[in-house]
Parts: sequence; C-alpha cells; structure tokens
Amino acid sequence: MKISVIGCGYLGAVHASAMAELGHEVVGIDIDAHKIEQLAAGKPPFYEPGLPEILTSAMASGRLRFSTEIADAAGARVHFIGVGTPQKAGSHAADLTHVDAAIKSLLPHLAEGDLVVGKSTVPVGTAARLAAVIEAAGSGATLAWNPEFLREGFAVKDTISPDRLVYGVAPGEAGEQATALLNEVYASAMAAQTPLIVTDYATAELVKVSANAFLATKISFINAMSEIADASGANISELADAIGFDNRIGRRFLNAGVGFGGGCLPKDIRAFTARAEELGRGDSVAFLKEVDAINLRQRQRVVAMTLQALDKPVYTAKVAVLGLSFKPHSDDVRDSPALDVAVQLRGLGADVVATDPQGIENSRLRHPQLTYSTSIEDTLRNADAVVLVTEWAEFKQIDPVWAATLVRVPIIIDGRNTLDAAAWRAAGWTYLGLGRP
Ligand code: UDX
Repeated sequence: MKISVIGCGYLGAVHASAMAELGHEVVGIDIDAHKIEQLAAGKPPFYEPGLPEILTSAMASGRLRFSTEIADAAGARVHFIGVGTPQKAGSHAADLTHVDAAIKSLLPHLAEGDLVVGKSTVPVGTAARLAAVIEAAGSGATLAWNPEFLREGFAVKDTISPDRLVYGVAPGEAGEQATALLNEVYASAMAAQTPLIVTDYATAELVKVSANAFLATKISFINAMSEIADASGANISELADAIGFDNRIGRRFLNAGVGFGGGCLPKDIRAFTARAEELGRGDSVAFLKEVDAINLRQRQRVVAMTLQALDKPVYTAKVAVLGLSFKPHSDDVRDSPALDVAVQLRGLGADVVATDPQGIENSRLRHPQLTYSTSIEDTLRNADAVVLVTEWAEFKQIDPVWAATLVRVPIIIDGRNTLDAAAWRAAGWTYLGLGRP
C-alpha cells in the first residue's frame, strides 16, 4: 500500500520506517529540512534502539523515501498524521498548531478514497472537528483516528508488534472502508491476532489520554506511598513487590523514584485536565493535578535529600549526577526529572558534573551551564555526593568499591531505587533511596 507519514519526529520517523519494513511504499514528510536530510542519509536525529537498522534496510529496499514537500503525499492511499502536540505556552492545554497545519497543507493533495489517519495525541473532540474540515474540502477523503502507544526505547517493537490496535472511525460505510484499509496496513499485526478495538473518534482519542493518565497515576501512587514509607520506616520496594503480585494491580509501573517525565505523560495529563475543564468536567479528573503535583514533588525531594546529605554548603560542593535522559534507552530530555534535578542543584550553586550514555547532547543544548562528562570516572572524581536519576544499566553496574576510591565523600542518593543498597553500604557508602530504609 502507498502510505504517507506527515511529521517525522519520534512517532513519525519510527512509523514511516516500520511501515516500509512491513512492505508498504512509504514517503515520510516533514517541514524540517535538516531532519529530512538526516533521515534520508539513514541517520535518525534521535537515539532509538533498532531504528537505524530498519531505516537503512527500508531505504535500501527502495520502499522508503523522505521529502519536505507535502505535494509528495499525493498518490498515497493512507496518510498518517504524526506531528507533535506539545503543551501550549502559558497554558496546560495541548497546542494543535502542527496538527491543524498538517491537515490544511494536505487537503489539496487528497483524492477520492484516501484515508487520513491521525496518530498524534489530541484532546477529545479534535478528530470530529478535523473530519468536518476534510469533508468540507470536498476531495472525498475521510478520517480515522488510530492512537499510537509506543514507548521510547521500544518504539520499533511497539510499532511492528503493538499490544493492541485502536481505530476510531466515522459511522457507516466510511468507517467500514477505513477499517478495511487499516487492516490492510496492519496486516502483519492482524495475522498475529493483535487485539483490535474499532470504535468512534471520541473513544479512540480518550483511550490514548486515559491510558497515559492511568500510567501516570500508577507512578504517582507508588511515589506517594514512598513518602509514607519514608515517614514510617517501611520499604517501598518490598511493598511494591508485595502488592504487585496481585494480578489486579500488577508490578509494572510501580517503581518509586524521581518520577515520570518525557514528551508524553506530563503534557498529556495536563492537556487532559484542560480539555475536561472545557467540557465542564474538570472535577472528574481533578485528581490528575494531584498526580502531577506528587510527581513534581519527587524532584524537590531528591534535591532536598542531596542538600541534607552534604557535609558542606551546597555552593562549595561538587555533585555528580548520573543520568540526564527521562528514562534509559532514550536521549530524550524533554521534561526529564534527571535533568531537572541537575539544573536545580546547579541553580543552588553546586558544581554539578553530569553524565549520561545518550542524553548529554540534548541536555547541553538546553542547559549549557552544567558541566557534562562522558566518563563515569571523571564524573565521580572528588564528588561530595552522587545522585543517580536515570537507571541506565551502565550506572547499575558501577562497582561501589571502585566508586568509593574516586569520590571525596561516599554518599549516594539513589533517585530510582535501583541499586543494591546492602552492597553500597558494605562498600562504605551512605546509601539513601526514596522510601527505602
Ligand atoms: C509513555 C507511554 O508508556 C506510551 O504508551 C505512550 O505512547 C507515550 O508515553 P514513554 O514516554 O516512552 O511512553 O515512557 P514510559 O516508559 O511510559 O515512562 C515514562 C516515565 O515514567 C519515565 O520517566 C520513567 O522513568 C517513569 N517511570 C516509569 C517511573 O518513574 N516508574 C515506573 O515504574 C515506570
């Protein structure tokens, strides 16, 4: 099938490559010429395991090309919209400028029978509005909403073998045709019996934001419990294991620590709250404000723990920060708790040296005031405290005996509760976790 993918960021670049890998003929389109140049050269502009491999093989097959010209979308039967919906400046709502611009620029190139498929995360009600815009243009194209659930770091796998597919389609025949086309696009997932929910636009839009709201709530729940654990002497890791054995609860997303970040969860729960308020149901999701507040409190908590642990004023201390990206296997530092902690400590006057296997370049662009090192050894040398804020394997594997010989004072704040506390203590460290005695 001939496919266009409009927007080649994290979502679009992976989607375009994966669709070509699955045998479709794909053109990836973005207005950012530099991004397109990099992708066309087989170099993704961000770190995503497995993406360079499928990008290279799809381009070599001749099934994948990139362009800055929206006119190149003409001739494709299915047009995926994968542009960003960031948080609006000065508000919690989603900024739909890119989605609206993508649809507007696509309209003149649509033909009878084409299907426009929204993948971006949008406030409920957006698809119905865009469907009317497409219908009014009179090309005979229709709209479906097919939310994307990919996780950074596992984006290729999540796109090629999703755990479920959701199609939000128009009522009647148009919806049936849209479903048939999408089933063709996702033929390999269909063959693998991937669960499929075919529904209306509003439900499809809400599935995405409510899934992210649930995940964010789960993380903030365990972080709130970790605050209680700190106050009562309980152990949050053992508590999470114990409640996680209940299948109704499940152990995943119950790791207490410095909290969630990235390009999705934080902005999605805020946009959801803003949209619910517009719908007159702000009270229904008021708890998400608390979820956000608990999450942001974890960053303050890690900073406060560091200040308290230091044996000297913070403005005279060297603090080693292990981690910058919002989670391992990613170079994404958008709303990263790790980078936030590093910046806050620097703001308090600490000499912050930070390291991360992938996140340095993006962090430096945003915060040139921090000192960055690609060497764990240099980062640790003469540190008055060490703060671990992203649980990369490289950091988990640090030998505490070796590390103790490098630092000035062996204090470690484990902001991800990921280290073996007993091993670090045995090597002479003061080990401090969140909700871990
Ligand atoms: C998320 C959703 O998982 C995905 O389905 C959606 O499509 C996009 O948003 P992603 O942003 O890639 O994906 O990251 P995710 O793996 O969900 O992690 C989000 C944040 O939560 C990270 O900062 C991570 O460190 C944190 N987290 C996760 C915790 O603090 N504790 C946990 O137990 C799990």
